[in-house]
Amino acid sequence: MVEEQTEVLFPKAVIDRRVRELAGEITRDYAGREILIVGVLKGAFVFMADLIRGLGIPCSVDFVRLASYGDGSVSSGHVRITKDLETPIEGRDVLIVEDIVDTGITLSRLVEVLRGRRPASLRVCVFLDKWARRQVPFAADYVGFTISDVFVVGYGLDFNEKYRFLPDVCLLRDIA
Ligand code: IMP
Ligand code: MG
Repeated sequence: MVEEQTEVLFPKAVIDRRVRELAGEITRDYAGREILIVGVLKGAFVFMADLIRGLGIPCSVDFVRLASYGDGSVSSGHVRITKDLETPIEGRDVLIVEDIVDTGITLSRLVEVLRGRRPASLRVCVFLDKWARRQVPFAADYVGFTISDVFVVGYGLDFNEKYRFLPDVCLLRDIA
């Protein structure tokens, strides 16, 4: 049987500091406007909860849930929305919040879909960016941390639905 072992990569205090910085950046960029934050379920819910509480501007929130056919840890290229927004976004300032961008397939597809609904503006904030693994060109507007090709869990991120509750971001290793 394969079990996993975790090792802290970003401790909670480091995450908290960086999330406050990001919230400050977003607050400055959107001064005087009211944004709609679109969280991508499930992974983004912890990051999003911290991020919005650091904002100094009004925001509303909504969520989408996406499924990509495949084994769950690798994007297959076919992305569909399994839970759509409940808010019309035409004319709104929309900020997508996602846990991690890896191949870029999920977010580039979501951006394409939401752009078609004609928001006033559309930007993306990701907590983690695995830029070295990109398969399609995609650059987020706000990035918490850039990481190498490692698998991470905690702070909302899972492996087979486990570890989302961990307060730190941890590396996941297989042990036999
Ligand atoms: P992609 O950018 O379309 O390849 O997929 C990004 C999605 O893959 C994220 O929303 C996560 O659900 C998942 N993912 C990618 N890397 C990791 C990781 O290291 N830990 C947990 N989930 C990951
Ligand atoms: Mg995800």
